Amino acid sequence: MFSNFVYQNPVKILFGKGQIAQLSKQISPNSKILLTYGGGSIFQNGVYEQVKKALEGRNVIEFGGIEANPTYETLMKAVELGRKENIDFLLAVGGGSVLDGTKFIAAAIPFEGEDAWQIVTGKEKFKKAIPIGSVLTLPATGSEMNYFAVISKKSTHEKKGMGHPLVYPVFSILDPETTFSLPPRQIANGIADAFTHVMEQYMTYPVNAQIQDRFAESIIQTLIEVAPKTIENPSDYEARANFMWAATVALNGFISLGVPQDWATHQIGHELTAFHGVDHARSLAVVLPYLLKVKQETKRDKLIQYAKRVWNLSGTDDELVAEAIQKTGEFYESLGLSIKASEYGVNQETIEKIVKRFEERGVNFGENGDITPAVVAEILEMSI
Ligand code: NZQ
Ligand code: ZN
Repeated sequence: MFSNFVYQNPVKILFGKGQIAQLSKQISPNSKILLTYGGGSIFQNGVYEQVKKALEGRNVIEFGGIEANPTYETLMKAVELGRKENIDFLLAVGGGSVLDGTKFIAAAIPFEGEDAWQIVTGKEKFKKAIPIGSVLTLPATGSEMNYFAVISKKSTHEKKGMGHPLVYPVFSILDPETTFSLPPRQIANGIADAFTHVMEQYMTYPVNAQIQDRFAESIIQTLIEVAPKTIENPSDYEARANFMWAATVALNGFISLGVPQDWATHQIGHELTAFHGVDHARSLAVVLPYLLKVKQETKRDKLIQYAKRVWNLSGTDDELVAEAIQKTGEFYESLGLSIKASEYGVNQETIEKIVKRFEERGVNFGENGDITPAVVAEILEMSI
């Protein structure tokens, strides 16, 4: 059924060349700003200078070193700094990890409970957050226009998602030129991540939500079209701009309105990252093709629709299902991503650990809640 929904996305987007210059106008003049960033790419591609210039004369302190798959351990140092310095605005400059990490920092600074990790697990509710703005340098996660964050805990090898409307960015600046410096690996990852985000919200069962379906299909088609161009020619502005906007709308809440969602690929992928350090997008490419195989009966109608509308395939229904799954795997491979988890050292032992963890948590995934830990094992065994 096309379910009821309430839709409100409060994030102001400033998109295009030179938009970082608008930064100062977005943040109230008396704010004490904590600028957060990652491992230093912003110093090499000129983004840091643009940000500093735009914020000339403003009260800004900095926290760097947020790693890919941001960790609770690192982020708590920023929380400490933010509390000590009494900051009242957070400006995240970087990729999804910096943005996600900053969302956690925003919620953790005013948090009065004992253990801020419980913000991530959802065991403790937070009621306040410091406002956030972002300058995005890596199109992939959609974090710039959603309220999710994925945080890792080093000490326990956990990686978990949190989400709350209080951590929506107030604004996000998306200048495709800031992405020209991305290495091909990160571009490929970004395309694969955005593609999988659409699949998680689209590849379920039909509820006759025509706008969401066609919007989702157009995002996938755009990604397929721009992928080779933007990988081959990183400074093709139009290709990069289309990719950047595609990645944002893939996970800004619009295509999931009133429709069933899956997200099992992400849940399983997070475990592969937690145990083997697999890049986020790469963890998805080794799960989705097999998940589609295992769940092809319940996803059949949508697979047929996807085969016809996205890949322009024809044939019998059985052929369409098989080819749609094949095309999905080939798309990841065309980006240079393996579809084999064994490539990353995942083996039977990892599968057992993941299954045990899911059993302990008592979780089943998928749009029908039928991806049990045993089904997770079945999917992963096909991938090793
Ligand atoms: O740390 P720096 O030095 O900035 O380098 C980064 C990092 O090494 C580099 N980079 C970023 N922009 C660059 C650049 N290098 C050159 N030029 C630029 N313009 O790229 C590397 C990867 O960055 P990262 O932020 O980790 O990548 P991504 O944006 O793919 O984020 C991945 C994280 O987001 C989470 C993932 O789980 C993972 O932790 N996700 C967040 C979601 C959300 N908030 O909604 C949903 C996603 O499904 C995903 O789970
Ligand atoms: Zn993702």
